[in-house]
Amino acid sequence: MLAGGSGMRLHPMTRAVSKQLLPVYDKPMIYYPLSLLLLAGIRDILVVTTPHDAESFVRLLGDGSQLGVSIRYAVQPSPRGLADAFLVGERFIDGDDVALILGDNLFYGQGLEAMLRVAAGEPDGATIFTYPVRDPTAYGVAEIDAEGRVRSIEEKPAKPRSTFAVTGLYFYDRQVVDIARSLTPSGRGELEITDVNRRYLAQGQLRAQQFGRGVAWLDTGTPDALLQAGHFVEAVQNRQGWKIACLEEVAWRKGYIDDAQVRALAAASPNEYGSYLLALLG
Ligand code: DAU
Repeated sequence: MLAGGSGMRLHPMTRAVSKQLLPVYDKPMIYYPLSLLLLAGIRDILVVTTPHDAESFVRLLGDGSQLGVSIRYAVQPSPRGLADAFLVGERFIDGDDVALILGDNLFYGQGLEAMLRVAAGEPDGATIFTYPVRDPTAYGVAEIDAEGRVRSIEEKPAKPRSTFAVTGLYFYDRQVVDIARSLTPSGRGELEITDVNRRYLAQGQLRAQQFGRGVAWLDTGTPDALLQAGHFVEAVQNRQGWKIACLEEVAWRKGYIDDAQVRALAAASPNEYGSYLLALLG
């Protein structure tokens, strides 16, 4: 999980606080992508942060044992790009398959868990997830043919060849560390995840799964987008009575923690959040 970066677009909100710790309605932003990893059955997690924010993430998430998972931390000295995560995390990855999720991406919708399980179960190659957006120019953009195959992939094209944005969730086989190491920085001075994906595409090993209209993929990159994401979570939660990305609930439903552990976590938040956790137990 990549949770560093400069947060420049959200200054001054992010001058003293990491972007991924800002609230999205009732939870820190990082809860949302983290809940997705837990849902996908991924329990061995490395959080990559800036040098000065690492401590705050540790305070929030600890070693993950309270959620029945393992969370470790690594520092990225400067924002050298998304693909740099594989170099920072090389020892953690240790020759295995790996998923990368951006700590500021929020996904919500039915059927996600099944799609993630398919991607996690692929023996080789890479899987990206696309999402239709009105204006894809701020994202990686994939051109997909009628059979669902990726034809091309470009980073922030001025003239996009499709409306399919590439979301911040990626699954790779063991080749990814070597591929990341072989990249040269782009015009903006970063190791681009799009270049990693292009390499897999050139090898005929890039799959794209398409998130449809029933899925919400929300951005949190600008003050407007952040507020809209908060309103979205508030609207859905208050209508349904179910929380989105409640890590303790996900861990409990997945069987990572038991009732007694949920009770202890509820006691640590003696408010509406804690009451919600207790109510789950019936
Ligand atoms: O959100 C999906 C998009 O993410 C993709 O469509 C693009 O292909 C991909 O390049 C990326 O686009 P951005 O340019 O918007 O990414 P950004 O620089 O905002 O970084 C995404 C997150 O990763 C952000 O929360 C900060 C963090 N980050 C970023 C860099 C460059 C790091 O932790 N370290 C880094 O070195």
